[in-house]
Amino acid sequence: MSLLELDGVKVHFPIKKGLLFDRTVGHVYAVDGVSLKVEAGETYGLVGESGCGKTTLGRSVLRLVDITEGSVVLDGTDLAKLPGEEMRRFRRRLQMVFQDPLGSLNPRQNIESILSEGMIAHGIGKDQEERREKIKAILDKVGLPSNALARYPHEFSGGQRQRIGIARALVLEPDVIICDEPVSALDVSVQAQVINLLEELQEELGLTYVVIAHDLAVVRHISDTIGVMYLGSLVEEAPSDALYAEPKHPYTKALMSAVPVPDPEVEDKRERILLTGDLPSPANPPSGCRFHTRCPWAQAERCATERPELRDVGGGHRVACHYAEDIASGKLRLTKGEVVSATREGVEDNPTEDTPEAEAAEADAPAAETPAKIPAQAEKPAEKAVEAEDKAATAEEPAKAEGKAEKAAEAKASPKPEAADEADEAVAADEAKASEEPEKAV
Ligand SMILES: Nc1ncnc2c1ncn2[C@@H]1O[C@H](COP(=O)(O)OP(=O)(O)OP(=O)(O)O)[C@@H](O)[C@H]1O
Ligand code: SF4
Ligand SMILES: [Mg+2]
Repeated sequence: MSLLELDGVKVHFPIKKGLLFDRTVGHVYAVDGVSLKVEAGETYGLVGESGCGKTTLGRSVLRLVDITEGSVVLDGTDLAKLPGEEMRRFRRRLQMVFQDPLGSLNPRQNIESILSEGMIAHGIGKDQEERREKIKAILDKVGLPSNALARYPHEFSGGQRQRIGIARALVLEPDVIICDEPVSALDVSVQAQVINLLEELQEELGLTYVVIAHDLAVVRHISDTIGVMYLGSLVEEAPSDALYAEPKHPYTKALMSAVPVPDPEVEDKRERILLTGDLPSPANPPSGCRFHTRCPWAQAERCATERPELRDVGGGHRVACHYAEDIASGKLRLTKGEVVSATREGVEDNPTEDTPEAEAAEADAPAAETPAKIPAQAEKPAEKAVEAEDKAATAEEPAKAEGKAEKAAEAKASPKPEAADEADEAVAADEAKASEEPEKAV
């Protein structure tokens, strides 16, 4: 049995209307039947466009959102069925590292207090002295000096704050850490340091990760297995190398074709699959294969009416496409869309990349640079990396940091023992985008 097993997980958010009586007028099918397994000591990378349900799936594992249907089994225990108190105990074994390290750290607490909070809630350490010693050891592991204990979040750079976020998860000795876009808010060079740190910690502590990202390059470097999501479902899953060597689902093929290759000769010959149409709303997903409205290989009738199962096409490579074999063999021809030279002028107009988030991500971190830089950064000693981040921290505007973190402080004000968990929930809730409220989704 795998350490973490998800079977048919669905998270449907009701869409309510009405001033006096809330009527449910529909659902946002954020996660719609995901089954996957995460092996102990390995990393499962989850990728997909903005809004495809990655965060919701991660949060459903921790029961930070209600699971509509399906099971989440950690080490033989179905979390979806656990009563609240037992689930709280189990939550120690499942920790989350958030995208925005500042927003998830209480600005009014020093690092010792932030890191102690969860330990106290879960009864770790017999007194504060024992907890402090443990925190110091973990800070050392994540490359932060022990004098960090008395400092406050705004005194650190973005990369350092993410290290604190990782330390906060580690002090609870979790089995699985769900990292939701752990580096997308960081500079490219700091991204590599944090990814390398996660890998080193995994090796040393035998951790199991689920890493959520929209940057294919980031996930490739760290993952053993990769799952590609589209509109709430997994469309492809394979060992990392196999997926990158031969993506089999049309959506993955289109995503991969958009990633520049560092080798100029290969890059010159690279072909780009241009998709047509916009990403449909998860409140009104297409019938049949969810991708049929944009799929360049879509076939009449079957693709629009029959939902493809995620099936093994050999070597543990799972694909949700009726025609995966025919597409791979070249038997099926394109019915829409276009395959063009990636270096042709104007190809960046691909609708796949049209979302503002995708554009921002591209501007921040050119995909081709990331994999090339990661191994080079690995040779840098942790202290030097931290020194560099320290310098960067001085450029941080404390006032800005304070204001932004204000919300998190309120969210974490509860003195109850379950405060750490509730704070996580509040922080996660903070991250839900206003533009994606159910009413607006229809
Ligand atoms: N609490 C909620 N209530 C209603 N709809 C929600 C809620 N949380 C998320 N959604 C919707 O569910 C869908 C999936 O959102 P989610 O945040 O999981 O996507 P994502 O893949 O993590 O996107 P991103 O890459 O932008 O972080 C979106 O359409 C979003 O609007
Ligand atoms: S099932 Fe049809 S629409 Fe879906 S990915 Fe395969 S070919 Fe495209
Ligand atoms: Mg997300």
